[in-house]
Amino acid sequence: MADKPKLTTSAGAPWVSNQDSLSAGERGPLLLQDYQLIEKLAHQNRERIPERTVHAKGWGAHGTLKITGDISKYTKAKCLQPGAETPMLARFSTVAGEAGAADAERDVRGFSLKFYTEEGNWDMVGNNTPVFFVRDPYKFPDFIHTQKRHPKTHMRSPTAMWDFWSLSPESLHQVTILMSDRGLPISPMHMNGYSSHTFSLWNDAGERYWVKFHFKTQQGHKHHTNAEAEELVGKTRESYQEALFNAIDGGEFPRWKFQIQVMAEEEAEKCDFNPFDLTKVWPHDQFPPIDVGTMELNRNPENYFAEVENAAFSPSNVVPGISWSPDKMLQARIFSYADAHRYRLGTHYEQIPVNRPKCPVHHYHMDGEMNVYGGVATGTPNAYYEPNSFDGPTDNPGQKEPPLKIDGNADRYDHRNGHDDYSQVRTLFEKVLEDDEKERLFANVAGTWPGVPEEICERQLSEFKKVHPDYEAGVRRAWEKVKAEGGYKPNAQPVSESTPQEAAE
Ligand code: HEM
Repeated sequence: MADKPKLTTSAGAPWVSNQDSLSAGERGPLLLQDYQLIEKLAHQNRERIPERTVHAKGWGAHGTLKITGDISKYTKAKCLQPGAETPMLARFSTVAGEAGAADAERDVRGFSLKFYTEEGNWDMVGNNTPVFFVRDPYKFPDFIHTQKRHPKTHMRSPTAMWDFWSLSPESLHQVTILMSDRGLPISPMHMNGYSSHTFSLWNDAGERYWVKFHFKTQQGHKHHTNAEAEELVGKTRESYQEALFNAIDGGEFPRWKFQIQVMAEEEAEKCDFNPFDLTKVWPHDQFPPIDVGTMELNRNPENYFAEVENAAFSPSNVVPGISWSPDKMLQARIFSYADAHRYRLGTHYEQIPVNRPKCPVHHYHMDGEMNVYGGVATGTPNAYYEPNSFDGPTDNPGQKEPPLKIDGNADRYDHRNGHDDYSQVRTLFEKVLEDDEKERLFANVAGTWPGVPEEICERQLSEFKKVHPDYEAGVRRAWEKVKAEGGYKPNAQPVSESTPQEAAE
C-alpha cells in the first residue's frame, strides 16, 4: 500500500495532530496558541455560503451537447453549427424548498445549462415548463414571497399562494401545469427543459430570428401522484439525487433532444399574441420544433459543493449568434442573476473553476473578492486601463449583433389589462389533458386548499371558470370532497392579525 500523505496546515507546513488539542495538562484549559484548532473551528463556521434565494435545492451533472441538425442559416454561434460538440454542466432544482428540502415535492423544476463554448459560456437557465407565473418582473419578488415561508408562522402558506394566484390571472397557465402531472416528475431525467422565454439567434448576414429552446427528455415523461410522493418522501428525501447520480454512475446516461422553435421578425409583428409574453407558448402547428441535436449527461461531479453549489448560471451569458429578446422578465433576469452571484459567491465568481470559461478571457475588471487568478485579465501587465499603448485587448466589432428594433414611448407597462390569459389555458385543458389527468389536476388543486379562506378559493374558482366551466366544476367537486373528508390542514392559516409593533407593545 502506498504511503499515506502526511498532514499539513492549510499553509502547507507539516502538522502534528488533527485530533489532540494543546492543553495545560489533562484537566487544564486549552492554549490560545493552538492556532490549528482555532483554524479548524473557524473553517467549520464558514463551510456554508448563502443558499440561493430561490432554487436552493439542486442536482447537477456534466455532459455534452452534440449538434446534428443544421440551423446555420439562423445563427453564427459556433456551438450550434453542425457537428459541434460542447462540454456542459446541468443543474436541476426545485424553486421554493430550501437546500435541505425533499426532492419529490410538487413544484416547478429549474433546468439550468452552462455550455462551455469556444466563444465563451452560454447559459440556458430555464424551467421544466414552457411558461411562467407572471409577465412583469415587478411581480417576481412578491410571487416568490408567497412560495417561501410566512414571516410570522415560518410555515409555507397556501393562503398566500392562492391569494396571489387568484389575483394574478396571468398565472393560470403555469398554475395549471404545476397542478397537473407535469408538476411532480419522478426525477430530473424524466422531464423536459424549456427556455420559456423567447430568445434570438442571429446569423453572419446580421439577420435576427426569435426562438424558443426546448430540451425533450428521451427517458419519457414519468410522474408521481401526490400520494406516491408522500410515501416516497417518508422513505427518502433525496430521490432525485439518488436517481440521477446512480444512473450516471452506472453508465445509463440520460439524454434530451435539443430543438428550437423559430419565428421570423416579420411573423412576430403579425402574431396575434405577444410572442415575448412569458405566460404564452408558441403553438407547435404554427411554429414546429426543429431538431438541432442531443444533450447527454455522462459525468457526476467529483465534489458537489465545488461543481454544483458554486455553479453560477445567468441568462446574461450569451455568445455571438445567440441573444435576448424584448421579454420584460428576461430583461430583469439579465440583471438579477449576476447580481445574485456577486452576493452569493463573490465579485469574480466567474473565476471559480466550474464557472470559468474554457476559452481565453480578456477584460479590464480588476481586483476584488475572488480575484484568485490575480493581476489583470488583459494578458499584459501595463495594459490595466483603456485606451492604452501596451497591446491591451481591443474591441471585437465583427461580433456586433444586429440592432434590436424598438418602437413606442417609454411608459409604465399595463400587464393587467388587455391580455388574453385564458385561451391558451383552455387549449391545454380541452385538447392536451386527458380525462384522468384532469381529475388529478382537480384533486391536486383542492388538496392544497384546506385552511385557505373561502373567498380566495371562490375567487380562484371564478378564474378557472373563465378558462372552462368544466375546470371550475371539477375543482369545486374535488374541493367539496376534501371538505367532506375533513381534509388535512397542514398549516391552518393563521393570517397574523397583529403587526410586529402591536405585538411588541
Ligand atoms: C424576473 C424574473 C426572475 C428573477 C428576478 C429571477 C431571479 C433568480 C435568482 C436571483 C436566482 C438565484 C440565483 C443564484 O443565487 O444562483 C434564480 C434562480 C433560478 N431561476 Fe430565476 N428569476 C426569475 C424568473 C425565472 C424564470 C422565468 C425562470 C425559467 C424560465 C427561472 C429559472 C431559474 C433557475 C433554473 C434558477 C436556478 C439556477 C441554478 O441552477 O443555479 N427564473 N432566479
